[in-house]
Amino acid sequence: MSDVKTLAIEKLKLLNPEYPELIEAIVVANKKIYLSLKTDKTKIDKFTRIKLQIEKELSAIDGIDSVSVSLTSHSESMQSKADTRAVTSGISEVRNIISVASGKGGVGKSTISINLAVAINQLGFSVGLLDADVYGPSIPKLVGDRQKPKKSKAGKILPIQKYNISLMSIGFLVPEDSPMIWRGPMVITAVSQMLNDVEWGQLDYLIVDMPPGTGDVQLTMAQRVPMSGAVIVSTPQDLALIDAIKGIEMFKKVNVPILGMIENMSTFICPNCKNESHIFGFEGAKVEAKNQNVDFLGDIPLEIDLRECSDNGKPIMLSKTDSTVSKKFLEIAKLVKSKIEDNSNSEKPNIIIN
Ligand SMILES: Nc1ncnc2c1ncn2[C@@H]1O[C@H](COP(=O)(O)OP(=O)(O)OP(=O)(O)O)[C@@H](O)[C@H]1O
Ligand SMILES: [Mg+2]
Repeated sequence: MSDVKTLAIEKLKLLNPEYPELIEAIVVANKKIYLSLKTDKTKIDKFTRIKLQIEKELSAIDGIDSVSVSLTSHSESMQSKADTRAVTSGISEVRNIISVASGKGGVGKSTISINLAVAINQLGFSVGLLDADVYGPSIPKLVGDRQKPKKSKAGKILPIQKYNISLMSIGFLVPEDSPMIWRGPMVITAVSQMLNDVEWGQLDYLIVDMPPGTGDVQLTMAQRVPMSGAVIVSTPQDLALIDAIKGIEMFKKVNVPILGMIENMSTFICPNCKNESHIFGFEGAKVEAKNQNVDFLGDIPLEIDLRECSDNGKPIMLSKTDSTVSKKFLEIAKLVKSKIEDNSNSEKPNIIIN
């Protein structure tokens, strides 16, 4: 991929010898080129034309699926620097970034993120978990920990270490009851900083627990973070599925591979009478995965134990290792791992920062 980077810069030079000067950062990952250009705010029309010209030119490079050029004006340079570095330094030793997402809220993204993180760790990999939900951070509660992160000698934030997972969440940084009245760009910056300014170190996998929805914030994240793939969570009911499809489309739009769908709360077995009921419908996500031509990774039943372990701050993967749910998470983790390994493009991003 470093050839692609060199080639891209050469092509820019041919278009206009001054273009390489404008490059703030260039990242090649997952058959995508992410380019950030220094822009003069007063000449936005001119720079928009340059952006389109560059996107067209670089898209023609062999093996590249898409090109994303972001324009950053000088007055925004602090933020844009944080944003571009976000796709670079803090995660430069992270081999694979996987986002756990769904268009809909409350379907179990955070629950699945933490248990998947533990399951992948149990397969022998080093794992981190980033809570990208700035408005409703869940990870501190799910791991039963609210300690404040410390700083490293280099001034970076050290992730919280719990259950052998490196964790970061805005919930570790601000008091639980303080409301987050942040606008979109600030959210992006906050997430960028949790990627960049955190000393994630060497990790095989970084799981990103995405906030609900498919708005600008989620789209920008999907675009700017060099993700190896996305796992989509849905309950089987139609309403959740509609949003899950939006989620799939969002990732497809920015060329993030969909690793597959997980059906959460798929079935409920009454602990007393052992009768099975399908509270949110039956196999809806499984059927939809087929319709969407994405893999089905597995189903997680609606389980009181799962909810209780989450509320008690110790994931079911650690507190009830022999439970059906834990075994299912382990199977899902194996599938995710093999899908990532199959993806020949799951290379480490290649970075230049000017
Ligand atoms: N399979 C399950 N069985 C029982 N309870 C579950 C299950 N999955 C999730 N829950 C519970 O449902 C609630 C919502 O789950 P969670 O917070 O993981 O969803 P989310 O998609 O991350 O929500 P948000 O969109 O707000 O971020 C939590 O109380 C969680 O413990
Ligand atoms: Mg959540």
